Amino acid sequence: MTQRRIALISGASRGIGAATARTMFEAGWTVSLGMRDPDLPDWARAAPERVHLFAYDAVEVESPQRWAGAVMDRFGRIDAVIANAGISIPKTVVEISDDEMALLLEVNVQAPRRLAAACWDGLAVAGRGRVIILGSLSGKRVKSARSGAYAISKFAAVGLAHALRHAGFDMGIRATAVCPGFVATDMAMGLTDRVGEQMTQPKDLARVIAMLIDLPNEASVAEFCVNCQLEESF
Ligand SMILES: NC(=O)c1ccc[n+]([C@@H]2O[C@H](COP(=O)([O-])OP(=O)(O)OC[C@H]3O[C@@H](n4cnc5c(N)ncnc54)[C@H](OP(=O)(O)O)[C@@H]3O)[C@@H](O)[C@H]2O)c1
Repeated sequence: MTQRRIALISGASRGIGAATARTMFEAGWTVSLGMRDPDLPDWARAAPERVHLFAYDAVEVESPQRWAGAVMDRFGRIDAVIANAGISIPKTVVEISDDEMALLLEVNVQAPRRLAAACWDGLAVAGRGRVIILGSLSGKRVKSARSGAYAISKFAAVGLAHALRHAGFDMGIRATAVCPGFVATDMAMGLTDRVGEQMTQPKDLARVIAMLIDLPNEASVAEFCVNCQLEESF
């Protein structure tokens, strides 16, 4: 078994996932990058032996088991899972089709649940496994009609993090729902008129995620909200 801790990060090709992978790598972790089209990032060339690529697709039901198996075979341990891959379909609950709603729930809820479950035994071994579910402030409040369908999926994602926290607590597994507002990524660019610098930066959210993962078992954080603007409660 390798001595370094290893984190699986889904949706590591760009946006929040890419920034988090880099931050974890620079903090000394080995990172396993789940990407639809695996490609070694430039920053990984400093220590490619600490980077593992896996062709992960959230809509492929078998993908998490194969990914967890590949990591256990190569490194013999799983210390953290960051279920980050997600999609947004900016439609009201009246406009959205059944197929689109099913896809939102598949990628934003079912896939992270399957990924955590596939890694569960590995996470339990060291007695301090960590699961980060990328929720959203849209999982805390419905801010607009057009964010309604997405919000349903993110409310469920936040619930998933709580459910995992309960399921894993006695095994030392700590699960956190990270709930940002607008983050300067491709996803947010299509949703707001704000320019990038007026949004939370992916690298700052990555620092939050790395900090949450590093906290001891006795400092469990169930939800962590981050905003770039003033709202009534967040
Ligand atoms: N940006 C925001 O304002 C914001 C706010 C709150 C929460 N979030 C959440 O944060 C997470 C990351 O979002 P982001 O802003 O970084 O989005 P992004 O820039 O659009 O990146 C999305 C990532 O998810 C991956 N992905 C999408 N569908 C996938 C699938 N079927 N299988 C595997 N990977 C898939 C993408 O891979 P490809 O490169 O292959 O497409 C990409 O790596 C999401 O869960 C999102 O809901 C974002």
